[in-house]
Amino acid sequence: MSPEFVHKTVMMAEVLDALNPAAGGRYADGTVGGGGHAEAMLARSSPTGWLSGCDRDGDAVEAAKRRLTPFAGRFEIRRGNFAELADWVEAGSCDGVVYDLGVSSPQLDVAERGFSFQQEGPLEMRMDSRQALTAAELVNNATAEELARIFWEFGGERDSRRFAKAIVHDRELRRFTTTRQLAELIERISPRHGRKAHPATKVFQALRIAVNDEIGSLKRGLEAAMKILKPGGRLAVITFHSLEDRVVKDFGRAGARDYTFIGEVDVPELREPRAPELKIVTRKAVTPGEAELAENPRSRSAQLRVFEKI
Ligand SMILES: C[S@@+](CC[C@H](N)C(=O)[O-])C[C@H]1O[C@@H](n2cnc3c(N)ncnc32)[C@H](O)[C@@H]1O
Repeated sequence: MSPEFVHKTVMMAEVLDALNPAAGGRYADGTVGGGGHAEAMLARSSPTGWLSGCDRDGDAVEAAKRRLTPFAGRFEIRRGNFAELADWVEAGSCDGVVYDLGVSSPQLDVAERGFSFQQEGPLEMRMDSRQALTAAELVNNATAEELARIFWEFGGERDSRRFAKAIVHDRELRRFTTTRQLAELIERISPRHGRKAHPATKVFQALRIAVNDEIGSLKRGLEAAMKILKPGGRLAVITFHSLEDRVVKDFGRAGARDYTFIGEVDVPELREPRAPELKIVTRKAVTPGEAELAENPRSRSAQLRVFEKI
């Protein structure tokens, strides 16, 4: 792992405000990344606060451990998915949990990780390099229908079917192995030359979400956070696109209701009363302030929601 793992932490002040770390408190960071939020939470909860952290990315875990050495003895960082936090963090033990979703800057910037359509690299996109599924695997083997569904559902790509068909056609001639190979196909057939965003933006986002099962992990991760929080403890979640934000918002709404319902649709006759599980602390998602937006362009799509376990 290279020593230059640099990720600018987003919405630091807002997260600290929401979780208010204090001495003696116990905290969890499900996305330690470069360790920015983790470091601040440990510093603010000195001298006795504890932090359990994880990340799917082995490089991130190594970088975070290095950065947190001044707090040795007060944290445990494991490589893994936050969906599994409740398997090793004690139920009802945490005062605060933070998830800062998406990818870190090193994941985007290191061409070999295969996340970027701008740089030539293997078509990878795995946050956890131990995982078998890669973007190339999907692009070369999924059916046109599957690919179109991924592009539409996870990327909101309006040309999902056309792109999927073109991929299936092209891969008969040559398998897709690199990021630029895929990006160039989309550039070639995209009707949107001249638009602000690169035409492959949504396809790459969608593939990344599918490869890493980001939505499934998020849903399970939110449940896990509620398990490890103590009553009165808070969960802060930063999302970077509307699909993630909707999952988080819906989770908050469902948890705050004083009933559950059977099936997919909320029909009054099928409601079952129960005590609400959480309070919504942020009615509207909180977004970065002017100063942060000016200083860190990657923060521009960040949205923070905070919930309190009852
Ligand atoms: C935006 S970065 C976090 C940055 C970190 N908060 C900081 O201040 O340096 C997002 C990180 O979340 C990790 N990640 C994304 N989904 C995850 C999941 N389901 N479980 C564990 N880590 C995940 C990624 O590997 C990445 O390192």
